[in-house]
Amino acid sequence: MSAWSPDQYEKFKAERAQPFWDLVALIDPRPNMRILDLGCGTGELTRALHKQVKAMETLGIDNSASMLEKAPSAPGLHFQNTNIELFDGKPFDLIFSNAAFHWVQDHERLFARLSKMLTRDGQLAVQMPANDGHWSHITAAQVARELGLEVKVVPLLTPERYAELLFELGFKRQHVRMQIYGHVLPSSEDVFEWVKGTLLTFYDRGDPRFMPLYRERLSKRIGNHRPYFYTYKRVLIHASF
Ligand SMILES: C[S@@+](CC[C@H](N)C(=O)[O-])C[C@H]1O[C@@H](n2cnc3c(N)ncnc32)[C@H](O)[C@@H]1O
Repeated sequence: MSAWSPDQYEKFKAERAQPFWDLVALIDPRPNMRILDLGCGTGELTRALHKQVKAMETLGIDNSASMLEKAPSAPGLHFQNTNIELFDGKPFDLIFSNAAFHWVQDHERLFARLSKMLTRDGQLAVQMPANDGHWSHITAAQVARELGLEVKVVPLLTPERYAELLFELGFKRQHVRMQIYGHVLPSSEDVFEWVKGTLLTFYDRGDPRFMPLYRERLSKRIGNHRPYFYTYKRVLIHASF
């Protein structure tokens, strides 16, 4: 798989930070929290979270060495290069994940495992992109199929199923919502730049035909607009015992 590029990812920094802050707003901050941030990326937002809730300790984990390369430092802030699927640790007061779980399969198992890694009054806060119905994502899957390449499996459950699952896992309070973010991008071409920093890290695996064909097909689908209004669907979850 091609490596994540912090520079490409951060081209839409402000737009990507918006759901992060919406998720942070759902957290009930408590004194001396121990936080785990799963799929923390560059760590910049991990540090923002750490500071915002005045946490005692925050551990950010990510399986991309390039994303973690320039991870920031602050008292109580740590980073580890590992997989979400493999990580295990002592209980956390808050397990947080912004825009990473759509890369992890089997959410029923994942949420069950995470619920066991929380303290008795622990909280879970998760934001997951769910934009597979947009042409940016449909086109990528279509082009991959046409070229005989692997198609990214969307692991997301329905919002209703997340709500049921949280109930089954013993969370007493929960907030599950689907939100449409509308991003005014300078032009339609910027959609390509956007997905290049995320979704296309999956599809850009060395077949030189993929990128030009995807770009051409996407341009036909969404047209040439200035500005371009890019809708982005996301699921936000907060739950506590
Ligand atoms: C879209 S970025 C989000 C980064 C950060 N949370 C933020 O909001 O800026 C997704 C991150 O998840 C990481 N990631 C994807 N799958 C992962 C896995 N299975 N284990 C650990 N990290 C993973 C990627 O390396 C990437 O840095």
